[in-house]
Amino acid sequence: MDYDAAYREIESLANERQQDFEQAVVDYLHDRVPHYSWVGIYWVEGSDLVLGAWKGPEATAHTRIPIGTGVCGAAAASGRTEVVADVSADPRYLACFPSTKSEVVVPIFSDGHVIGEIDIDSADLDAFGAGDQRFLERIADLLNVVRAS
Ligand code: SME
Repeated sequence: MDYDAAYREIESLANERQQDFEQAVVDYLHDRVPHYSWVGIYWVEGSDLVLGAWKGPEATAHTRIPIGTGVCGAAAASGRTEVVADVSADPRYLACFPSTKSEVVVPIFSDGHVIGEIDIDSADLDAFGAGDQRFLERIADLLNVVRAS
C-alpha cells in the first residue's frame, strides 16, 4: 500500500463541503485499503463519542460510546492511538461485527484536545502496522483542519 499516494488523494478531496469530505474520506479508506473492513469517524459530544460518517458492510449498534468505554473510549480518554492486534484478547473490546479480528483507533485533536477519532476494523488478525498508524494520524490532522476551516 502506497500510503503517501493515498494521503495525497485524500487531501485532494478537501475542497468538498465538510460533511461530504468526512464521508469521502471514510469511503476512500474503506474502498481503497484492502485490509480496512469497516471505517467510521466518532465525534466527542460531552462525555460521549457519537458516530458520524461510516462505511462498511453493516451498521454498528455502537453509535454512542461513553469516553472511557471500549477501545474507542480508551483512545479518547488517553489521547493515544490504540492498535489492537487481536480483539479477542483485549477485555476492553466492544464487539460490533463477528468478522472483526483487529482494530485501530486514532484520536483527532484540536488545540491539544481530543475532538473525535477514526475507528477501523479489519477482518485480518494484526492488520495494522506503523505505516497505517502514521497514515491515519495524518488523516486525523486533516479532518481537524477541514472541520476548523
Ligand atoms: N470496537 C469498538 C466499538 C466500535 S465498533 O468497532 C464500530 C470498541 O471497542 O470501542
